[in-house]
Amino acid sequence: MNVQSDLFEEINRLKKEKNAVLLAHYYQEPDIQDIADYIGDSLGLSQEAAKTNADIIVFAGVHFMAETAKILSPGKKVLIPDLNAGCSLADSCPADKFHAFKQKYPEHIVITYVNCSAEVKAMSDIICTSSNAAKVIDSVPKEKKIIFAPDKNLGKFLIKKTGRDMLLWDGTCMVHEIFSLEKITKLKIRHSKAELIAHPECESAVLEIADYVGSTTGLLNHTVNSDTKEFIVATESGILHQMMKASPDKTFIPAPPDNSCACNDCPHMKLNTLEKLYLCMKNETPEVDVPEPIRRLALKPIIRMLEIGRG
Ligand code: 13P
Ligand code: SF4
Repeated sequence: MNVQSDLFEEINRLKKEKNAVLLAHYYQEPDIQDIADYIGDSLGLSQEAAKTNADIIVFAGVHFMAETAKILSPGKKVLIPDLNAGCSLADSCPADKFHAFKQKYPEHIVITYVNCSAEVKAMSDIICTSSNAAKVIDSVPKEKKIIFAPDKNLGKFLIKKTGRDMLLWDGTCMVHEIFSLEKITKLKIRHSKAELIAHPECESAVLEIADYVGSTTGLLNHTVNSDTKEFIVATESGILHQMMKASPDKTFIPAPPDNSCACNDCPHMKLNTLEKLYLCMKNETPEVDVPEPIRRLALKPIIRMLEIGRG
């Protein structure tokens, strides 16, 4: 017996004993993905959190994702392996500053990317994720003006895609904004048959040369459905685990960031470990909570998004 299989056994036992469901984002470490009951992108995880019958939701992801689960399922205990697993993009949009910004444009509809705090969601009209953002924007009548927050790269991409002129909040994701165009271009030359696939949180220069742009689930499905055998993947490297599992005959090259690393990990997502996951299930802490007045306000725009569904 090794430590990893002991932990797998214990986590599986705790899941049954406590009627807990383990939801994991694609950016989690491979061991956590392998033991999860459901692995998905932000939208899939919200949909799963809304419909689960479990008493406890163990959320292997970052804080805003666990918060969204709590907003949707207030009667359930929501646990996260590491309470410090935040998000640079959510942090780039503090609620007080966003409130002041929104006050200046009272006529605008506020569409907010799910990567934000519960307080910012509570100030929004509709939430979206990278897999349904264009569909959410299309649901807003043409004559209405739109504020889009907090990711400016996704916002710019959506302005081009939908033709809507939106007012953008100046936020970015620390993981997706540091891909090196120069290194990616060199990789593309060396692997001339490879497709470059990218998450829309990447900078415009990377998105412009990408062969396919999509959410984490979109990227995964594309690698399965495409006839191409080689992919350069411009998103957090955790997704490569599922890509390799789904298509063992294909080659996946993580797009390199503009630093000395070969691939790009989200330091927040990677705060969660198998050991912390086990301890949080055993001790039922740390727990994620949302004050009821904020929860009620934040629920409405999330429900509007879930009604719109996948794009
Ligand atoms: P999706 O899961 O919607 O693709 O978003 C990626 C992300 O940045 C999560 O933090
Ligand atoms: Fe936030 Fe970026 Fe990490 Fe996603 S990858 S959790 S957007 S910092």
